[in-house]
Amino acid sequence: MLELRGQRVLLGVSGGIAAYKSADLVRRLREAGAEVRVVLTAGAEHFITATTLQALSGHPVRTSLWDAAAEAAMGHIELARWATQVLVAPATADLLARVAQGRADDLLTTLCLATEAPIAVAPAMNRVMWANPSTQANVATLRARGVRVLGPMAGSQACGETGEGRMREPADLVDDLAASAVPPRLAGRRLLVSAGPTFEDLDPVRFLGNRSSGRMGFAIAEAAAQVGAEVLLVAGPVKLATPVGVRRIDVRSAAEMHAAVIGALPGQDAYVGAAAVADYRPAAVADRKIKKGEGAMLLTLERTADILAEVAAHPARPRCVLGFAAETHDVADYARGKLAAKKVDAIAANLVGRPGSGFDADENALTLYWNGGEREFATARKTDLAHGLVGWIADRLEAG
Ligand code: PMT
Repeated sequence: MLELRGQRVLLGVSGGIAAYKSADLVRRLREAGAEVRVVLTAGAEHFITATTLQALSGHPVRTSLWDAAAEAAMGHIELARWATQVLVAPATADLLARVAQGRADDLLTTLCLATEAPIAVAPAMNRVMWANPSTQANVATLRARGVRVLGPMAGSQACGETGEGRMREPADLVDDLAASAVPPRLAGRRLLVSAGPTFEDLDPVRFLGNRSSGRMGFAIAEAAAQVGAEVLLVAGPVKLATPVGVRRIDVRSAAEMHAAVIGALPGQDAYVGAAAVADYRPAAVADRKIKKGEGAMLLTLERTADILAEVAAHPARPRCVLGFAAETHDVADYARGKLAAKKVDAIAANLVGRPGSGFDADENALTLYWNGGEREFATARKTDLAHGLVGWIADRLEAG
């Protein structure tokens, strides 16, 4: 897990329903080691109290530019200088507009104008407000000025609608902030990641697939982007949002994944094959729904291309190629066998077929095998394991 030890985070909360999550955010920021000071806009005070955030942050919460006692204790310019990072979460459409215009009409916008610390905003609003060209223009202005825009996510909204506009989860915001505080070890490097399952169609309504959710591969893509890599994610059919700063190509079948990965190979420094690619596909795809008949039905399957092995043997082979092995038994033997047979730099092996780990779980446990060594990664969130794997890749690339 990345940490925020030594970081002084100024958390600005503006007036949207997602403000209730700022209590959790403060708690998580402090758990990660940060010192936290909170500023509420007038709108935010309708959604969460200063008392709650004072108790959680351990410091008085500022709400007004005109509070003489608070200004005497730590003036707003001092507060702007104190911060090593500024995070506005949630950032409403109005707050984004005011910061984009360089307004200083309340304490939070004044601090955003007066600070030299990096600023990140986590937008949260109704999906139509987010899609509005005014909001998008304000976001583009902020990005162009170096403000990091974290999210929003797609999903169900407090207003009852579904779409893009949910605030990024507090745990993810803490990871984003922590990553920006660590050395960008993969800056200037390009990383290609495959994730998720592949679906092999039998007819217009049926397919052969597997239980991969894509979480492991998405976590790796996110962790690599957080330490500065330019990441391209080739994703099978999954229901996950694209990690911040990651470019994504969506595919369905093993053949499409093969074409996307091989096509993107030139210039990559590393490839991570976390996808659960089908080894077999139906030899023929019926163009009409297959009708049932009497007795058993026999399917003829043919092999798909082994993408990982092909990447490792390709003239444009990235310097570091890391594959996975998903096994239900004899994990170490099969993993070492894949390391040799596929001629990759490392294999991350996981035991699959039991609940709570491997496929479609938030957590996993891995053993990384390479020629001359192995490392255990004990059960942890996939987002945490991803940082370990990305660290290993960075070591490998730095070693040359
Ligand atoms: O997606 P999640 O729900 O988070 O689950 C994560 C995971 C269990 C899918 C992941 O941790 C994992 O193990 N991914 C690899 C799954 C797999 O297909 O393993 P395998 O042992 O069958 O394949 C070995 C390696 O060859 C893998 O890197 C795979 O991407 C690659 N391969 C396999 C077949 C093929 N045709 N082409 C390939 O590139």
